[in-house]
Amino acid sequence: MTDRIREAADGLRAAARRHGTPLYATDLAALDDAAAEIRAAFPDPWLRAFSVKANDVPAVVAAIAARGFGANVVSRGEWAVARRAGLADAEITLEGIGKTDADLRAVVRAAATGHPLRWVAIESADEARALGALARAARLAGASRPEVLLRLNPAVAPETHHGLAVGAARSKFGLADDEVASAIEAGGGWAGPLRWRGIHLHVGSQLGAVDAWRDAVRRALAVGALLRRDDADFDTLDVGGGFPVAVDGDDGTVPSPARFAAEVPALLASVSEARRPTRLAIEPGRYLVARSGYLVARVLHVRARRGPDGRPLVVIDAGMAELVRPALFGARHRVVALTSGGRPVDPGAAGAEAVPTAVEGPICESTDTLGTHDLPPLQRGDLVAIRDAGAYGASMSSRYNGRPRPPQVLLAAGGRVELARRRGTLGSLA
Ligand SMILES: Cc1ncc(COP(=O)(O)O)c(C=O)c1O
Repeated sequence: MTDRIREAADGLRAAARRHGTPLYATDLAALDDAAAEIRAAFPDPWLRAFSVKANDVPAVVAAIAARGFGANVVSRGEWAVARRAGLADAEITLEGIGKTDADLRAVVRAAATGHPLRWVAIESADEARALGALARAARLAGASRPEVLLRLNPAVAPETHHGLAVGAARSKFGLADDEVASAIEAGGGWAGPLRWRGIHLHVGSQLGAVDAWRDAVRRALAVGALLRRDDADFDTLDVGGGFPVAVDGDDGTVPSPARFAAEVPALLASVSEARRPTRLAIEPGRYLVARSGYLVARVLHVRARRGPDGRPLVVIDAGMAELVRPALFGARHRVVALTSGGRPVDPGAAGAEAVPTAVEGPICESTDTLGTHDLPPLQRGDLVAIRDAGAYGASMSSRYNGRPRPPQVLLAAGGRVELARRRGTLGSLA
């Protein structure tokens, strides 16, 4: 993927001047690149839904929708975000490990009022029973029944951080293959109030290789083929997300979306044509938004007492409240300077004066650190950008230490900076 930081730098500095720091920015040109890459790997008729948990800013979801994606949501809150972004219910899918009665009632209400979600993926027989009972009480029948996928736990060994390996057998997610038939029974059976459409799976996020994903899809196809024998309507396979983004510190060899897509024809060919799913779907999150997102921060102070190994140590005004991934997963995000000594610098090159510098957040926790980065001399007020912060950044942020949520801007064509969400107020914390 093209590195667009040089083109983005003026916009990032302008946005920080206008809206203050910390601030989240989404570069629409980089978003375009990522969306085009996924569309090329999984072209129509693949159904593509953006996993809203990766970035729940309505303007970002709308920008992605405009590039050929629906939305995959895990709660009524994310559903409302997708609607605010302009998506119709028919372009939205709902999954999630912990759906409440209110979530399930909303699914049934949407179907009953003629605006059904594209589908809901259920996690257990218990959940199927609850959804089936609500649909029966609403007297949903025939084509007005809610469409349902069964989330399979593929029991594979995902090549990722253990905290992201949701497709492992020990994880809390999904039905084991021998639980799927009883979930259908619990939901009222084939002729009951739910319209069973297929299998859903998600192997994990930031997958370092395609092997576990290939195994998982193979298992899902086998389970789907057995069930399809009973019902021709059972035609869907949603293979989830998980496409990885090359990050600082790895060797840049993570598989591309196209590499995953290249596995699909042989996998489908292993199932007889009559038993093959005909409606295929993906729900990527990270790949679409990670690279386009920046968290822009200001240097608050530079310690005279040096940091680890005698390095300069700077404290900036963004940290784990805004971007929890380093503290939560040990994730590394590159930090680059936008100004040095108050003057603009090229963030695409470390510069001759760059030295390893410890970059620390402003939160009262020692885990609030962004690690060491080659940076030019910095002083109070200088601007830095934390890179690849578009996925699981703003959506996982908290108000810890009394910090209102940061504003969101879009960097649009011609260097235009558009405010997409205002900074939270001190009042919003009370
Ligand atoms: C069910 C499901 N689908 C899709 C995604 C998106 O994953 P990613 O952001 O790695 O593409 C997730 C992320 O956790 C998920 O749980």
